[in-house]
Amino acid sequence: MSDFLVPIRALRHTATVLWHPGRSAGRPLRVALGSWLAAAFFSVSHAASVAPVAAENGMVVTAQHLATRIGVDVLKAGGNAVDAAVAVGYALAVVYPAAGNLGGGGFMTIQLADGRKTFLDFREKAPLAATPHMYLGPDGHVVSGLSTKSHLAVGVPGTVSGLERALAQFGTMKRAELIAPAVRLAEEGFRLEQGDVDLMRVVGDDFRRDPATAAIFLNGGQPFNVGQTLVQKDLAYTLRRISEEGARGFYQGPVGAAIVTSSQAGKGIITQADLDQYSTREMKPVECDYRGYRVVSAPPPSSGGTIVCEILNILEGYPLKDWGFRAAQAVHVQIEAMRHAYMDRNNYLGDPDFVKNPLDRLLDKGYAAQIRGVINPARAGASTDIVPGSAPHEGNNTTHYSVADQYGNAVSVTYTLNEWFGARLTAAGTGVLLNNEMDDFTAKVGLPNIYGLVQGQANAIAPGKRPLSSMSPTIVTKDGKPVMVVGTPGGSRIITAVLHTLVNVIDYGMNVQEAVDAPRFHQQWLPEPTNLERHALSPDTQRILEGMGHRFGNPQPPNQMSAILIGAPTLGGTPVGGNRFYGANDPRRNTGLALGH
Ligand code: GLY
Repeated sequence: MSDFLVPIRALRHTATVLWHPGRSAGRPLRVALGSWLAAAFFSVSHAASVAPVAAENGMVVTAQHLATRIGVDVLKAGGNAVDAAVAVGYALAVVYPAAGNLGGGGFMTIQLADGRKTFLDFREKAPLAATPHMYLGPDGHVVSGLSTKSHLAVGVPGTVSGLERALAQFGTMKRAELIAPAVRLAEEGFRLEQGDVDLMRVVGDDFRRDPATAAIFLNGGQPFNVGQTLVQKDLAYTLRRISEEGARGFYQGPVGAAIVTSSQAGKGIITQADLDQYSTREMKPVECDYRGYRVVSAPPPSSGGTIVCEILNILEGYPLKDWGFRAAQAVHVQIEAMRHAYMDRNNYLGDPDFVKNPLDRLLDKGYAAQIRGVINPARAGASTDIVPGSAPHEGNNTTHYSVADQYGNAVSVTYTLNEWFGARLTAAGTGVLLNNEMDDFTAKVGLPNIYGLVQGQANAIAPGKRPLSSMSPTIVTKDGKPVMVVGTPGGSRIITAVLHTLVNVIDYGMNVQEAVDAPRFHQQWLPEPTNLERHALSPDTQRILEGMGHRFGNPQPPNQMSAILIGAPTLGGTPVGGNRFYGANDPRRNTGLALGH
């Protein structure tokens, strides 16, 4: 019977699955012809996507196929999910330099087989010399490019500290073994595929502004082409230092000194004291229950887990499944739930070392019920009416990877340079691309940042503070065991993309690939219109919603979801043969890979 779960298109796409690195790959599901015909007959309604990649012993989904393979090799060698996550983190810094990084920061949500769950915050910090108005000119206006493309845009990097902390606390393998594949890829180079080249072209002429960056990411002054090899000798040197000395090899010695020198040469403010003081924080994840599942996700300084949970709490009071996927009523309440929750996101949340985040209120089911009480079932809300103080609200480009191992551990990591290739500046001699995460702070209250987010005082700049994030590395558990690992890049759209994937799986019973593929919509309070991906709504559904007062905008740049279901291709469903792990790589971008073993 389990064969009935295999979508018909999975069979037609088997050849694609085997050779195209940008699509889900791995062991194709074996289906007998009889079952195939039965599937063709009985499961047409499940045939929206290729089949998830299935495997018996573990699964890795990342945004770059070489990094996925490195993670799977670690699992095959007996490493656990944290070991694989560390190896992937270092590998992506080489093969996915647009967002994989040593010079940025991120979050890791960990669910261990023994029931422990934890969260590592290695988000970048504002340098000690940062000031609230550092991006304003004498006229009080934000100086264009200062928070995005200058050395002042760079936050103190956290990634190496975070990966090393994860390995020391939860890993089992030797650091040198886990970094070796990344060193080799940097030293010898790797062949650029179409997806790799597409990402490098996003940056346009920006690589030319910084000689240290141009020397690596341009090929004799010209953009790289498919089939050429990207070699990063300086990055290999930095990785070797980390391999030998751990975090000290990055924050101190010649690499740390080079980061400081490059900042000072570029009129930045990062000092050795900033690097010396950086440390990863271990925190309690944010958690909520949604229709019998436990959602474990990112606490502040990410808004991700809190806002995903706030929206889920609101939606739990509506019969989404009965209304049906993309029924106008279901879309209406999802948009309104997003609108209310993003107002809270943008006004109340910040680094918990600096502001008191009202998590008790925002995660409270009673608060969600109050919000349902002000959602008009027949009319769209106006974002301009939903402001701090109104009842009941008193009071990129990134990358994600998911790993699940044979032992019962699961790891969900989102880390970032903020925009693709960060500030597009490299610390000369290190190969380390530097982030522009400082743009995630509120440069000026009421003014949109690069994601169009209009934010408040809670996220104002202060020395040593971490900027508010939307990154939402999430793990779903049932009876204390991980059943889903999920996350995505996409700045402010991370939260709604994770939300859609959870709702698609939990409410609508989709398999993990269908849930990832389904077109999405995104509402973030301001600006007012809801962004629609192509085919997210039928024309008549859209007309009904417009009749209710909804306004729609064009699609935003796509997310790249990396999702794993553990146990079966659908939540609570039937496994296919002996496979326990089902991976889905997002088809919206052409670099990633889901692979198991
Ligand atoms: N830089 C994107 C985020 O942290 O949400």
